[in-house]
Amino acid sequence: MAAVIDTVKSTIAENFGGPSHSVASKEHQFSLEEVPDVSGKIAVITGGTAGIGYACVHTLLSHGISKVFIISSNQSSFDEAHKSISQDLGEELAKKITFFECDMGNWSNVAKTAKKIADQTDRIDILINDAARGIMTYQLTEYGVDRHMAVNHFGHVILTSHLLPIFKATAKNGNTVRLVGLGSNAHQGTPSDCKFASLDELNQDLGPNGQYGRSKLAVMLYHRYLARHLSSSHPNILSNSVHPGFVDTKMSTQDIHEPYPIAGYAMSAGMQPFKKSQWQGAVSAMYCATKTQATGQYVCPPAIPEAGNELAQDEKLGEALMELTVKIVKEKTKEESVEKGCPFSLY
Ligand SMILES: NC(=O)c1ccc[n+]([C@@H]2O[C@H](COP(=O)([O-])OP(=O)(O)OC[C@H]3O[C@@H](n4cnc5c(N)ncnc54)[C@H](OP(=O)(O)O)[C@@H]3O)[C@@H](O)[C@H]2O)c1
Repeated sequence: MAAVIDTVKSTIAENFGGPSHSVASKEHQFSLEEVPDVSGKIAVITGGTAGIGYACVHTLLSHGISKVFIISSNQSSFDEAHKSISQDLGEELAKKITFFECDMGNWSNVAKTAKKIADQTDRIDILINDAARGIMTYQLTEYGVDRHMAVNHFGHVILTSHLLPIFKATAKNGNTVRLVGLGSNAHQGTPSDCKFASLDELNQDLGPNGQYGRSKLAVMLYHRYLARHLSSSHPNILSNSVHPGFVDTKMSTQDIHEPYPIAGYAMSAGMQPFKKSQWQGAVSAMYCATKTQATGQYVCPPAIPEAGNELAQDEKLGEALMELTVKIVKEKTKEESVEKGCPFSLY
């Protein structure tokens, strides 16, 4: 009976808003106020202009971060974020942000953006892979790849790979480097026969929930893959993924109406009183970006490590995903990248 009550309490804390975090057990408590001093550190945050990513940027600036690089696809969303940070925290802190406009589904631009970041810093302590296409309809990118996987998984693998030498240099200098991927409990919506075996499999239309869920599964498998292959040789590079909860952001209030114009109101308006604020939604990411000493975990709010479903724990599936990832990126970017000597190293 006690175990059932604990599970119910964790489910409430992990997913819902209001005072839900207080019901989590004592050892899994964490709050934004507990974020340690991060002065001297440098962060890269995709999707840092809105929602959970914005709350991460704001929190890191408030706790002394030296520099934050933000990537998002839209200059106007950054202009709004910058204005809001300036008003809230002052011009001096806002000056610590450098913005790059880049669609994470445009892999060639992702590589160029990573190089621009590398030109500006030889240290990165925190990477938050946050930007994503939410529960939306099936689309293909210009590379002929499912847009959910292209943005949520592939683009972030390319970014992370290009920044690897900086992570390693930062770690070599005695710092802990924390890589964080925004997963989701929606990974449970992935069909159980998912194999990550071919591009044809990725390009099947699974419907908005399946499409999104599978891309979030990929984020979780990728960050566990990094923990297996990168943390093993570089113990002070930690790689974890998180679930932020059910959070009140553009994704859950506006984007959801793209696939479900009417039924989407159940999520955008009906669930509104039960959602976490963007600040509560940032708690698990901030825990993994600034505090955890673990690697390979999937952390739910406030700081509860969970296993994820069977697919998320399947190491062989993670290996298959990354084998396919390298194959597809190499094929699709052959002329612009691989043939020009890009090794596309994963760890
Ligand atoms: N909200 C939830 O309930 C929930 C639940 C589970 C997991 N998550 C995950 O949490 C993360 C953040 O979601 P959120 O709710 O905070 O969403 P959000 O408020 O819609 O913010 C998304 C951010 O990503 C950027 N972005 C979107 N598409 C992009 C692209 N193709 N290339 C580059 N940047 C892009 C957006 O900026 P631009 O518009 O400028 O591109 C924005 O900064 C996502 O990974 C999501 O899957 C959210």
